[in-house]
Amino acid sequence: MPQLDLTSRPRRNRHSEAMRRLVRETTLTPDDFLMPVFVHEDAEDTPLQSMPGVTRWSVPGLVAEAGRVAELGIRGVVLFPKIEDSLKTADGVECANPDGLVPRAIAAIKDAHPELLVVTDVALDPYSSDGQDGIVGPDGRVANDVTVEMLVRQALCHAEAGADIIAPSDMMDGRVGAIRSALDGDGHTTTAIMAYTAKYASAFYGPFRGALDSAPKDGDKTGYQMDPGNSREALRELALDVSEGADVVMVKPAGPYLDVLARVAAASVLPVAAYQVSGEYLMLKAASAAGWLEEEAVVLESVTGIKRAGADIILSYFAADVAAWLA
Ligand code: PBG
Repeated sequence: MPQLDLTSRPRRNRHSEAMRRLVRETTLTPDDFLMPVFVHEDAEDTPLQSMPGVTRWSVPGLVAEAGRVAELGIRGVVLFPKIEDSLKTADGVECANPDGLVPRAIAAIKDAHPELLVVTDVALDPYSSDGQDGIVGPDGRVANDVTVEMLVRQALCHAEAGADIIAPSDMMDGRVGAIRSALDGDGHTTTAIMAYTAKYASAFYGPFRGALDSAPKDGDKTGYQMDPGNSREALRELALDVSEGADVVMVKPAGPYLDVLARVAAASVLPVAAYQVSGEYLMLKAASAAGWLEEEAVVLESVTGIKRAGADIILSYFAADVAAWLA
């Protein structure tokens, strides 16, 4: 029979709330979060059927929401536009229109809340008539290098409008380096790049694509987003993004990829972000709405897990709720 070791009592460190707080390794603050937000051209603010609790804002509605988010202590919002069908083309060139929805939204937020960081998504899917993150070539595949040229134009357009952080989510090869040198060449040396470094071809993006009407018209994104079975490949993408000049790297989705997140965090010299995506949000939201899970407790536990695994920054549709619960 093994001897019971009565000198080692881990429960001593769990004896009281004060003791538990004293020894806690991972605590959350609003500073950890970025809030993804949806914007459209309409004058109405539209609650999304496909993502209960999330609204697609008009530009003025978004400015007010950004103020609420800032008031809660969150440092930044991440903009995602729903573009009118009539503006979508095969090359997605609307993405570089200086009078487009995103540049106007950036300027309006920075004007009202200059201290709040504005992060913009760089990828063509909201603008693409094919619903792909890049330009589809004659062979039916997303063509890397012509896409990168368009992404550079999009990034410059966002920087000129006042974006603080450019976040390329497209997974084209070489786009971080191309965007960095174009930004620097244009004098935007303080505009940061948060690279979607290990972005997986995930079914958990479904509700997001519904919110923006941006799903691929044909096929999927497996030719550029990472295969869910791979982890080592995330380190290859990390090395490239670091060498190309990224300021922050990201793993996405978060919850189903905590092992990848931990591996990237262990290897990274840069801050690491993780994106709790729309499908992860909806799983927690739906189960809570049905009364099967207790929303505040499971959400706080899920984002604590993401931080514990190595995230310095968490993008979450729950960001404002979390900040309010922590207050
Ligand atoms: C677009 C983009 C996507 C998400 C963020 N940026 C969708 C996709 O790649 O298909 C997903 C976010 C979410 O599901 O919450 N490039």
